[in-house]
Amino acid sequence: MNKKFHIVTTGCQMNVLDSELAAALLISRGYTKAESQKEAEVILFNTCSVREHAEEKIYSALGRLKHWKSHHPDGVIGVFGCMAQKDRWVIFRRAPHVDVVVGPGQLDRLPDLVEAASMGEGPQMAVSIDRFRKRESAGAVRESFRQYDPIRLSETRPRLFQAMVRIMFGCDRFCSYCIVPSVRGPEQSRPADEIVREIRTLADQGCVEVTLLGQSVNLYKSQEGGKTVALADLLERIDGIGGIRRVRFVSNYPTGMTDALLQAVRDLPTAVPYLHVPAQHGADSVLKRMNRHYTAAQYRELTARIYETIPGAAITSDFIVGFCGETEEEFQETVRLVRDTRFKNSFIFKYSERSGTKSAELFDDDVPDEVKRRRNNELLAVQDAISAEAHRALVGRTVEILVDGRGKKDGQLSGRTPTDRIVVFDGPDSLIGTFQTMEIVDSTPFTLFGQIKSSGDAGSDDGKRGG
Ligand code: 5AD
Ligand code: SF4
Repeated sequence: MNKKFHIVTTGCQMNVLDSELAAALLISRGYTKAESQKEAEVILFNTCSVREHAEEKIYSALGRLKHWKSHHPDGVIGVFGCMAQKDRWVIFRRAPHVDVVVGPGQLDRLPDLVEAASMGEGPQMAVSIDRFRKRESAGAVRESFRQYDPIRLSETRPRLFQAMVRIMFGCDRFCSYCIVPSVRGPEQSRPADEIVREIRTLADQGCVEVTLLGQSVNLYKSQEGGKTVALADLLERIDGIGGIRRVRFVSNYPTGMTDALLQAVRDLPTAVPYLHVPAQHGADSVLKRMNRHYTAAQYRELTARIYETIPGAAITSDFIVGFCGETEEEFQETVRLVRDTRFKNSFIFKYSERSGTKSAELFDDDVPDEVKRRRNNELLAVQDAISAEAHRALVGRTVEILVDGRGKKDGQLSGRTPTDRIVVFDGPDSLIGTFQTMEIVDSTPFTLFGQIKSSGDAGSDDGKRGG
């Protein structure tokens, strides 16, 4: 099959990686990447179910393709990712012109199904077993969320020198608001040697920076020769891979931040001092309703421990505002946590009820949307003021960046520091993919502006040396 395909990706980094792996699977079967959706004969949507808004956007996009399908009877429309697992038949019902539905636990089957649909074999579906279906064994469910060793092709990555690597599948935390444990299935860690092999392949392709992905990545645990391999051990092994200079990992669950892990981040030259540890809320009562297994005091203790162990560390967080029953006092606890912790950045979300989750079953989504919006804006303003202040303090300092692309203006480039701060500067395209030492000359809450001091390996005032 040598049809041209186009993938539209929504959602988190896990989806960005899945789209890349899906592209590699299709290319290895003879398909080619279309220049744009217009030229594609196979149009695929990689979908997200975390919030309702994201799903509605996909249904609208699918609706718009009805006309396209009537003019391209041989064309294939596919939906994969979290919404495919969650909605399954609903997708065929709401958009009957869709040909293929593939859940995230069956991604390796995507090319077979696209092929069958192309051959006129009718609608195709591959999803995993619903993990809440009582009569299925845990083993059968796990099996249906298939692990596979992915093909890595450099041409499917936007930048040769950066790559994401999945180290875990699924999630077993069951935060009450979250659909992820149902759609991505039981938590499974990949074998360490498989991960190391994959990163070696990436390094051979010219990759210098890897981001390890897992829903609770710090709870990584695999067995090797009768010994348990934890994330700290894995980081140490990756540190020994020639060519890899920066390693980060997302997302962390607050209770799994062991001292051994923090020390590994402090001591390993490749591990960057950037930690995404979502708090979700600042009030114990809400954390309890969210089924998060820590208190605000324990979270504060953790951030203090991070700052103490890793000087210059940057911590980022996710927060949900307007969760079921959230009072103004409870919300103010979140504001206080943000104010006190001095996060590098906070990602703030308005609660979106998802059917199939515990919070949808147990609580009312009773915070009016305008209150959610107001709280969202208030928290954002608090965080922005902190980010602006932290950035102002970096003016005049020296940082090391990996130049990762062009800036918004002509002749401008953009790069990231070890703590993931964006630095924009003037320079030639030939610097993309290189490390540069910069002096920071100006700042906004979101961006630092720099000037090149020298190429290569000098130190950094922003976090420890970046490799
Ligand atoms: N509503 C709003 N935000 C959510 N998140 C997860 N589920 C929901 C939901 N139902 C947020 C959490 C998580 C991030 C990826 O998305 O903050 O960390
Ligand atoms: Fe969802 Fe909680 Fe798992 Fe994160 S840890 S994916 S928020 S259930």
